Amino acid sequence: MTGGSLGQVPDPKTRPGQAVADMFSAIASTYDVLNHLLSLNVDRRWRRITTTALASGPGERVLDLCTGTGDLAFSLVGRSGARVVGADFSAGMLAIARQKARKRDQPLPLVQADALALPFLSSSFDGLMVAFGVRNFEDLDAGFREMARVLRPGGRLAILEFSSPDRSLFGTLYRFYFSRVLPRIGRLVSGAAGPYHYLPATVEGFPSPSALAGMLSAAGFQVLEQRSLTGGIATLHLGAKAAASPLAGPSVRMVP
Ligand SMILES: C[S@@+](CC[C@H](N)C(=O)[O-])C[C@H]1O[C@@H](n2cnc3c(N)ncnc32)[C@H](O)[C@@H]1O
Repeated sequence: MTGGSLGQVPDPKTRPGQAVADMFSAIASTYDVLNHLLSLNVDRRWRRITTTALASGPGERVLDLCTGTGDLAFSLVGRSGARVVGADFSAGMLAIARQKARKRDQPLPLVQADALALPFLSSSFDGLMVAFGVRNFEDLDAGFREMARVLRPGGRLAILEFSSPDRSLFGTLYRFYFSRVLPRIGRLVSGAAGPYHYLPATVEGFPSPSALAGMLSAAGFQVLEQRSLTGGIATLHLGAKAAASPLAGPSVRMVP
């Protein structure tokens, strides 16, 4: 899966895998700059919060799924001593991650793979994290099941994903920014209009934190905490692979 045209954007409702991979490959060269610019650098803080919450120790094997250009993985590698592997199906995003690993002299094994069919043995990771990736899955339930398969029982999970703030003044202003202003800046910098319309459309269609907790629980995770970040713009979902069957219901702590 290489290359990608700036003109093509996946349908945000069906999100066919190949089209998603091509879209990310097409915007890979401007992805990092836009991430930091559009979030006013808040994304860096969210990633730090995520890797801190995963609390991986030296020698632990951690998968950064949908690693993209590798920022979440680098945030963990530098601080924890964990053995981090990044996986993503976009060759273009992985190429940028590879360049960054060389420049920083921070070795990061990278695997080109689809999250819905990972090339890893069952129970091969102690921790799994994913930032802004699951929203793009063609089949979210299948993705969660695959994540549960590769984690060992008791292994920790951290999912950082956009969410929709409530209807407060902040929420209203943010929605205006996200759906009207952000796509324009995204288009100016990346030269592509589509991906930055796709972004708010997929966030709008994404399950609420409580619905997501139900899906994670059905896939075999115990959901431990759902932490709302920056007024609800993003949510950090923390859990662990249940030791036994996925039949126990969710017991979630919502942290505003
Ligand atoms: C918005 S980027 C996030 C990248 C990185 N995690 C970050 O925090 O900046 C989403 C990434 O998820 C990857 N992705 C989406 N669906 C995927 C799938 N089914 N399998 C593998 N990678 C996927 C895309 O290729 C893209 O690199």
